Amino acid sequence: MDLQGKKIVLGLTGGVACYKAAELCRSLVKQGASVQVVMTEAATHFIGAVTMQALSGHTVYTDQWDPRVDNNMAHIDLTRDADAILIAPCSTDFLRKLAHGACDDLLSTLCVARPRRLPLHIAPAMNVEMWENPATQRNVAQLRQDGVSIFGPAAGAQACGETGFGRMLEAEELLDELVAAFQPKSLAGKRVLITAGPTFEPIDPVRGITNLSSGKMGYAVARAAREAGAEVVLVSGPTALAAPHGVRRIDVQSAQQMHDAVMAHVHGQHVFIGVAAVADWRVVNASAQKMKKTADAIPQLEFAQNVDILAAVAATTSLSGWPYCVGFAAESENLIEFGAVKRERKGIPLLVGNIGPQTFGQDDNSVILFDEAGHTVLPRADKLTLARQLISEIAKRIDERSLLT
Ligand code: C5P
Repeated sequence: MDLQGKKIVLGLTGGVACYKAAELCRSLVKQGASVQVVMTEAATHFIGAVTMQALSGHTVYTDQWDPRVDNNMAHIDLTRDADAILIAPCSTDFLRKLAHGACDDLLSTLCVARPRRLPLHIAPAMNVEMWENPATQRNVAQLRQDGVSIFGPAAGAQACGETGFGRMLEAEELLDELVAAFQPKSLAGKRVLITAGPTFEPIDPVRGITNLSSGKMGYAVARAAREAGAEVVLVSGPTALAAPHGVRRIDVQSAQQMHDAVMAHVHGQHVFIGVAAVADWRVVNASAQKMKKTADAIPQLEFAQNVDILAAVAATTSLSGWPYCVGFAAESENLIEFGAVKRERKGIPLLVGNIGPQTFGQDDNSVILFDEAGHTVLPRADKLTLARQLISEIAKRIDERSLLT
């Protein structure tokens, strides 16, 4: 539960995207947050306060002059023990109000009266022309300068029938953004390249050799790096997973394709993390046509060694010292001894070892970090928790290097 114990003020302003706020409210509660909903009068035309009250489990406020508030200080009281304010959807007009410090309803007054330590996040939702209007863009720029974070908007089909930027992010994406906002920004401004998943080595157009890697660890590492503020490129073999929000995914199949995609993007990266379970061999006599099953002939496959992607990236670091290379290793025995040896052999500063292959597809894991100084055990936890710890360990180590640009 990523938001356990957090108090979130969820503000709704007028817009069709209010329907997504219901789902968002549910997801926040599911993640352990206590949600205090405040709606503008316009928002109540799109979704009922009763719905939001039932989903949040708390009284919903819509009016600055609400007689239920004894001291008439809702605009102060509602934010004093809050951990974040999220306005979703945030209309064009509400965005304008925020940019100018207007206080003409409960929600806008509450935003202006918030303690300075309290983060304000907004999820714009509006027609593409309204979003692209220079006045709106001026207000957005002002809000950014004031330290307000802007979640989205996405591009796509809009309720008005037009297409373009202005769609509010989906509830799950907003949840990810909010969770990310609470994470330390240890990789702010850094670029991180990650491989994940299995590879698929074709035998013919319909058959191939792969492995049991689910991609979960690599995707968790990509998400954690993005949460830490990095710009993330994820080169992924075939998996059933959705790309983490805000991560650029490049899909590949074979080890050779993974190598080519990695080498095409490695320039300028600060960190490379090879999490993929890359096939060691490929079939050199793969057939261009589907192989026929015949009674007397069993196909004879010939194999060749695949290129070691991690080693290839590590070799490029000799010039600049970057990217900082991190490898993964699954061993079935003697992890401590084999891990240390493998790190040296691969010529990388950090190797993450786990006892595999039983970790494949699991949601949790236990890993050991090997570096020049020795090894550190990260106790069993879910893969996202481990990934966040790993990112923090990587950030600490690269901070110690003076070469960063
Ligand atoms: O040598 P081994 O395959 O155990 O090393 C695993 C590490 O090397 C992982 O980080 C994996 O992503 C990387 N690797 C690679 N290219 C290969 C084989 C492994 O990048 N062909």
